[in-house]
Amino acid sequence: MEKIKVGVIGAGKIAERLHLPQYSACSNVSIIAICDIIKKKAEKLAKQYKIPKIYTDYKKMIKEADIDAVSICTPNYLHSPMTIFAAKNKKHILVEKPMALSIKEMKDMIKECKNNNVILMVEQTQRFDPAHEILKEIVDSGILGKIATIRGKLGHSGPEFWSDDSPWFFDKKKSGGGVSVDVGIHILDLIRFVLNDKEIESVCAKTANLIKKKIKLEDTINAVIKFKDGILGSFEASWSTSPYEVRVEVCGSHGKAIVQQANADPQRIRVWTIDPKNPYNTIKEHKYNIPEKSKHMSPCAHFINCIIKKQKSVIDGEQGMKSMAVILAALKSAKTGKFEKVFEKDG
Ligand SMILES: NC(=O)c1ccc[n+]([C@@H]2O[C@H](COP(=O)([O-])OP(=O)(O)OC[C@H]3O[C@@H](n4cnc5c(N)ncnc54)[C@H](O)[C@@H]3O)[C@@H](O)[C@H]2O)c1
Repeated sequence: MEKIKVGVIGAGKIAERLHLPQYSACSNVSIIAICDIIKKKAEKLAKQYKIPKIYTDYKKMIKEADIDAVSICTPNYLHSPMTIFAAKNKKHILVEKPMALSIKEMKDMIKECKNNNVILMVEQTQRFDPAHEILKEIVDSGILGKIATIRGKLGHSGPEFWSDDSPWFFDKKKSGGGVSVDVGIHILDLIRFVLNDKEIESVCAKTANLIKKKIKLEDTINAVIKFKDGILGSFEASWSTSPYEVRVEVCGSHGKAIVQQANADPQRIRVWTIDPKNPYNTIKEHKYNIPEKSKHMSPCAHFINCIIKKQKSVIDGEQGMKSMAVILAALKSAKTGKFEKVFEKDG
């Protein structure tokens, strides 16, 4: 069996909790190398996952270790330069969300990956949740009729409860922003996924710091989005929602669907349809079973499959950039107080 040789850059929380366990569960992957500027972090994970090579310089790892692909699990401001260096050296790339901090950076990443014929996938994990895939299938099936609105919320208690050792999340130069780029990108990308990556025309947002008074960034964002085909949507992301929760609700001419998961509540899909000629007396509930997450294809397994089968990822650089462009426009709107067009350029 062909084995893809992988190197991981950044031995922090997401590498530990997601990339390394997911690659380890793939029989077609060898984790060859791990890199962190803090050597003891790389050593700890290398020991745990029996990774033979340890580096503190990612360029050295990419040049010297015999690898086909990299996972980029570093603070957000490093995603673009690391992707570009890896692409120039012909490595396939799985980069963490948010893809990068500006449209220019994201365009350069896409261009470099195309020029070097390597896969660029963005780790938007919500797309791989089985409940979210079912929601997309429900919308695709047409049983909800013509879609009119979609709204989503994703919230948790904040990065300090995820990692107690990552102050970069609160440093705008390194993170690119507060909850909007950390959590807002997840819920917005999920909304786009459910609606088949429909183009969003403009966005109007309000941001606030409501709970985390010690930080200088927003801990809450609420936004209204206008799709090019007229659908209206809204999303909310917060670092002040405890316990953790993800919710999406889609309404159409023939019914509605709600997916909800929260630490305080089991994951649920609720779907009702009606006959639009007699909406009050024809309500029908539809039942769906959600497969276990552990039996479902993980983002890292999907990345490896794309490399082996030379396939496009469900969240490639183009789609990663389109989602982040909405977040950048939302942050601009929060300053101007107006609807902002989602342009594929900075400024
Ligand atoms: N997909 C998700 O659901 C999800 C969840 C959490 C975090 N993330 C993303 O993952 C990325 C990392 O987040 P995290 O929580 O693991 O942060 P973290 O702070 O725990 O880990 C980042 C690691 O990168 C290392 N690092 C910094 N500069 C480096 C360099 N030049 N070379 C090599 N290593 C370097 C740090 O020492 C640290 O160990 C971020 O982009 C974040 O947005 C994604």
